Amino acid sequence: MIIDGEDKFVITVIMAAGKGTRMKSNKSKLVHKIYDKELVKRVAELAKEVGSDEVIAVVGHLKEQVEEVLGDSVKYAYQEELLGTGHAVMQAKKYLEGKKGKVVILYGDVPIIRKNTLENLVTKSFKNKEYATLLTAIYENPTGYGRIIRDEGGNIKAIVEEKDANMFEKEIKEINSGIYCFDIEELLSALDELKPNNVQGEYYLTDVIKIMNDKGLKTGAVIVEDNTEILGVNDRAQLELLTRVLRMRINAEHMRRGVTIEDANSAYIHDNVIIGMDTIIHPNTTIKSGVIIGENCEIGPNAYIRENCIIGNNVKIGNNVEIKNTKIGDRTKVPHFIYLGDTEIGEDGNIGCGTITCNYDGKKKNKTIIGDRAFIGSNVNLVAPVKIGDDVIIGAGSTITKDVPSNNLAVAREKQVNIERKD
Ligand code: UD1
Ligand code: CA
Repeated sequence: MIIDGEDKFVITVIMAAGKGTRMKSNKSKLVHKIYDKELVKRVAELAKEVGSDEVIAVVGHLKEQVEEVLGDSVKYAYQEELLGTGHAVMQAKKYLEGKKGKVVILYGDVPIIRKNTLENLVTKSFKNKEYATLLTAIYENPTGYGRIIRDEGGNIKAIVEEKDANMFEKEIKEINSGIYCFDIEELLSALDELKPNNVQGEYYLTDVIKIMNDKGLKTGAVIVEDNTEILGVNDRAQLELLTRVLRMRINAEHMRRGVTIEDANSAYIHDNVIIGMDTIIHPNTTIKSGVIIGENCEIGPNAYIRENCIIGNNVKIGNNVEIKNTKIGDRTKVPHFIYLGDTEIGEDGNIGCGTITCNYDGKKKNKTIIGDRAFIGSNVNLVAPVKIGDDVIIGAGSTITKDVPSNNLAVAREKQVNIERKD
């Protein structure tokens, strides 16, 4: 991570050994998804995005599942028995020993922290030369969380867990998010001093703060502005809540950039979507990660824009349209009840109602390529692989299995027969 022009060493440890009993699932809670992406993968990607030189996942319960999701994007430490958050970090010791810099501690089930917030935490820790920098929050109802104990001068002295807190400490509204940035060497030395002498009989990572304080080492905190960032997932209701929070955050960002969203409650725009100014998103529209949409388009209602779609400017994608791995040129209309998969369409086209690309032959996906100014009639099947030239008209109800050259009209359907009734 670059701080004031200097390259600083940062390693991230992700606690990912927990059981997640309350999810009532055969899967590890860490591999449940928000918008198609596993919780733990979100955290690992975040760690990389803020510039971690190394990322260590401490795994245990259902570790194969977590390992399958993270692959070799991280290194692994193993925690066979869950003896506390301090114990979890101790398992990553071999990756920390001999290193100089900071270690960031994240939870695999706290997946929607903003990149900016983590960057602030680490930057403050380096700049203020703090040996521990905590991410804290102010909660009206702090029950269940570790409380931040400060002296009269506001300096942080310790963290006291709910279960170990006295009645005065329980009144404190500043809570520990469980996310920290530590000096590597001093964390290692404090971990050596941890003892499980508390109500839960666990090695508390939080005790490190008091240990550092007793040594006279400077500690500090960043108070998170948006408390939703530090929400974790313990059950399905929280999974839904976090999905909703992320959805609203993403939608707000698009609106801020000049996109109209008719109903933010029913616009499901995944991460990393680009949408141009003055585009309108109608209700019940899903847009998957990586999609690019130009300016002044109209999308939906009930549109499903899947992976790898690039949509030009002034395009209309109407109701009940599903598109996947498809490029659409400027001013083309795809108004209703259409499926386009693995397709490229030029500019100024019109795709009739009920058109589908038959892109799958049972073994592989095939491409449909359509030129500029194509007029595809209603209820047309385009059996891929197939190429349609420029300025082509295709008669309604056609099943197109052969390429159509430019400037041609193609009709591929049974001729109509009218038989006079004799009854
Ligand atoms: C912890 C903090 C508390 C803070 C809270 C925020 C400690 C002692 N307390 O409490 O101050 O307010 O988080 O949510 O750290 N885990 C492991 N291995 C273990 C124990 C835990 O991987 O041996 C993982 C859990 O799966 C979970 C996270 O660490 O993802 C937090 O553990 P948990 O025991 O729930 O800590 P809290 O009691 O919530
Ligand atoms: Ca917890």
